[in-house]
Amino acid sequence: MATPWFEDEIAAALAPLLPGLSVEVVAEIDSTSSELMRRARDGRSSPVLLVAERQTAGRGRMGRLWQSAQDRDEPASLTFSLGLPLLPRDWSGLSLAVGVSVADSLDPSKAGGIALKWPNDLWVEDRKLGGILIETALPQNGTAERYLVIGIGLNIGPREAAGLSTAPAWIRQWRPRVTAPELLREIVVPLVDDVLLFGERGFVPFAERFAARDILRGREVQLSDGTVGRCEGVGWGGELLVQTASGMKTITSAEVSVRPAQ
Ligand code: BTN
Repeated sequence: MATPWFEDEIAAALAPLLPGLSVEVVAEIDSTSSELMRRARDGRSSPVLLVAERQTAGRGRMGRLWQSAQDRDEPASLTFSLGLPLLPRDWSGLSLAVGVSVADSLDPSKAGGIALKWPNDLWVEDRKLGGILIETALPQNGTAERYLVIGIGLNIGPREAAGLSTAPAWIRQWRPRVTAPELLREIVVPLVDDVLLFGERGFVPFAERFAARDILRGREVQLSDGTVGRCEGVGWGGELLVQTASGMKTITSAEVSVRPAQ
């Protein structure tokens, strides 16, 4: 493995936040999220950050594939999963809070134009930069906590648009020399901080941060059932608010896909 990933530095920074966390970097795996879900089902529920330089069966939401961009010498995507036990009062809005955290780390001044598309995409100029996959498993230790697996995939280098429902964006379009390990180092400590904040206080502390990057707010959107309406932003629980001809619709289901109307 050629790329140094700053594992020791990241592990030391995360240790006070998540005692017992291990940081693992692998050259290749089917999917970092599949691996952490397998471990959780086997009763392994300690905190882990698992990073892969290449995934052979990366997964997106709703059964879609997540394909990484490939460069000859180094990863042109950042693909990792964070697994930890968590017991928030309410899980609603977690993927939005994760998106807020990653966008704020990558683009703190908002000059880079990173926006969030409900419920879990990072977009730049109406192109998809990255995605978030949230999954949970019931640990076998009898506690009420669930084992949470947050999978994050970001395009760093160019990738083909062929086969994608949305044209891609990539980070080297505005940071030409940035590498996957550098981006991981920027993202991961604030991410753990924000996930723990979510665990204590839910989506409320993230609502305004999300609103500041909400790409759908004020736009005509089309729901996957064909309904068209105007997006009025998200509520305090992370639900999408859409004004339609038959009144305000509150969308909570992750199975609903929403597109800006063309
Ligand atoms: C989406 O856009 O639908 C979510 C994409 C999530 C991709 C990441 S890459 C790391 C982790 N492992 C996976 O198989 N998927 C997530």
